[in-house]
Amino acid sequence: RTVAVLAGGLSHERDVSLRSGRRIAAELRDAGATVDEWDTDAALLGRLRDTRPDAVVVALHGGEGENGAVQSVLELLGVPFVGTDGRACRRAHDKPSAKAELTRAGLDTPEWVALPHATFRELGAGAVLDALVARLGLPLMLKPDQGGSALGAQVVRDATQLPSAMVGALAYSETVLVERFVDGVELAVSVVDTGDGPVALPAVEVDPESGVYDYTARYTAGLTRFHCPARLDEAVAARVAETAVAAHRALGLRDLSRTDAIVDRDGRVQVLEVNVSPGLTETSLLPTAIGAAGLDLGEVFGLLVERAVR
Ligand code: DAL
Ligand code: MG
Repeated sequence: RTVAVLAGGLSHERDVSLRSGRRIAAELRDAGATVDEWDTDAALLGRLRDTRPDAVVVALHGGEGENGAVQSVLELLGVPFVGTDGRACRRAHDKPSAKAELTRAGLDTPEWVALPHATFRELGAGAVLDALVARLGLPLMLKPDQGGSALGAQVVRDATQLPSAMVGALAYSETVLVERFVDGVELAVSVVDTGDGPVALPAVEVDPESGVYDYTARYTAGLTRFHCPARLDEAVAARVAETAVAAHRALGLRDLSRTDAIVDRDGRVQVLEVNVSPGLTETSLLPTAIGAAGLDLGEVFGLLVERAVR
């Protein structure tokens, strides 16, 4: 079998994806697969048609690799791939849509508002920002409504920081997601389904040296401490695992996902987002969880490839 690993692409997370792609390709080869590494560009469709790999692993992050566009092309061509279908990717990758769906499923997620750029132009930025603080209070968490790796995301503790944080988020997306900031233990819970239904792996607790898990803290070895399993009571750890599986199911995800959550000061599990294409780099969280569970990354993806082909 030949597995094509799609990486790169033109999203802001291109570099992360190249690292994910290199790692997963090497791990799959170690597990015995024949792997082609593709840097994903406009030639993708033609290349898929001409070479027809037996299966595809999408190691793309952000943009078309995560919003369902690439997955829809694979479906169109009938090429089996590991991961979630195009439609569910689209919904999961759009943070406000995903939060609405998670809320409908009875899961907790920080209270939020989604504001399109046009709102500021048409209604006056000052009035909108005042209404925002009146509604959600401070501190706030601002993020582009689509994207990842904390790019364009910022905590706002003081109203005077709000305009520049807003501009920072809107540089990455037409709409900004504004959430009430939740303080607590930051966790990533990976879910894998190799055929017996989705199972949560041990939660990874994220403990950045700087206190903020930003792009640098994510991808520079040594800048973040990971505790896996997370330092949680047994009962809380069980709730966290249940929540991740429930989120995976609520969003209709397939094969694997990673739910990012915070256990707040009251012990409630608040879901921040669910990633359909979790990072696979040397400092990423899903590989850490797979290792802590005593599993092998290449073997797990090998099983997911077999499942996709079947
Ligand atoms: N968006 C990055 C790759 C992650 O969630 O791991
Ligand atoms: Mg993310």
